[in-house]
Amino acid sequence: MNNQQWVEQGLKVVADTYARYPIALTRGEGCRVWDADGNEYLDFVAGIAVNNLGHCPPRVVDAIREQAGQMLHCSNLYHIPAQIELAQWLTDRSFADKAFFCNSGAEANEAAVKLARKYSKENGGSEKCQIITALASFHGRTLGTIAATGQEKVRVGFAPQMPGFGYVPYGDIDALHQAIDPSTCAVMLEPVQGEGGVVVPPAGYLQAVRELCDHNGLLLIFDEVQVGCGRTGSLFAYEQEGVTPDIMTLAKALAGGPPIGAMLAREEIAASFGPGSHGSTFGGNPLMTAAALAACKALTDDGILEQSREAGKYFRQQLEELANRHLCVKEVRGRGLILGLHLTCEGGDLVRQAMDQGILINCAAGTVLRFLPPLTVSRNEIDRVIDVLDGLLAKIS
Ligand SMILES: Cc1ncc(COP(=O)(O)O)c(C=O)c1O
Repeated sequence: MNNQQWVEQGLKVVADTYARYPIALTRGEGCRVWDADGNEYLDFVAGIAVNNLGHCPPRVVDAIREQAGQMLHCSNLYHIPAQIELAQWLTDRSFADKAFFCNSGAEANEAAVKLARKYSKENGGSEKCQIITALASFHGRTLGTIAATGQEKVRVGFAPQMPGFGYVPYGDIDALHQAIDPSTCAVMLEPVQGEGGVVVPPAGYLQAVRELCDHNGLLLIFDEVQVGCGRTGSLFAYEQEGVTPDIMTLAKALAGGPPIGAMLAREEIAASFGPGSHGSTFGGNPLMTAAALAACKALTDDGILEQSREAGKYFRQQLEELANRHLCVKEVRGRGLILGLHLTCEGGDLVRQAMDQGILINCAAGTVLRFLPPLTVSRNEIDRVIDVLDGLLAKIS
């Protein structure tokens, strides 16, 4: 079938929850993907920060093949070696002592919210349930995580809203201070906001949040679903701020493509989850955890983190030069390889025009072109994207 046939059939039978572009992607390799008509694209969306190792990374593909021949699924009623190895790998390299596995970012955040409430009620009193999050944040699409998300638009039509969340402007420590009351149990933030428009917090903000949490006996939850797993240039985004959370969530790039989520916590906090308090049939299954273990090892053992830091620096320089040349660019934002161009106008049309020239990019928060290439992206690939953007921005400026 060609693009048009897939698009027509898709519109008939697939729920209309995404405003999809009119191409059907059928194959990927490294930073490139192909559609059903055989057109090639440079992929600077990477499944929205999922394909951090590029498309079909050999280590992950091999691990899936091997695990699929041994066991696809059993149950969390039994110990699962690949799950244990993945938990060991993640806890060896982070602040955390325990990992809970699930299947998506929203589920990881649900687990974080449940754990924060349970721990806080057990240790601080039964009124402790309120979680403060940031305006313009994004934490998922379940009923709990749309309540956690600081954007009204994700809740429209789904009332009644789940109670227990309050929102403050991201980066405003005084507002956070004022929002804390005796029912507050935790603060949940993205170390860099992704969907909110690639927003890096002001210097010192996250440290000040940590101090405020410590002073008030609150847990600090970092949602690293989008910015974890090397996206910002370190394995976890919190490392660059010198701020350690109590709970962290991961998903997206954790297995380099296949679906998985994880919630990591310090031992003392994780202890509030006993048998029966939380669970997931598929969470931590042998196939996904084998894939994730291979993806994690590739990130560190194959030098991809170092490579991504260089690529991020180079890409940023090129974007800064674009910003100097084009009046319609207000600002270059981001960290590592989550980068954004904040425009003076809407970015949606540019995304479509770039696609017509064989470049896949994305727009967040209406006016921010967001770039999330695989961490393996080369200078030549960055140059090609910059060339196309230069031409498109010239038309606006
Ligand atoms: C920061 C953040 N948290 C949570 C989610 C939800 O993840 P999922 O779509 O896997 O449920 C996303 C998705 O974009 C995200 O960017």
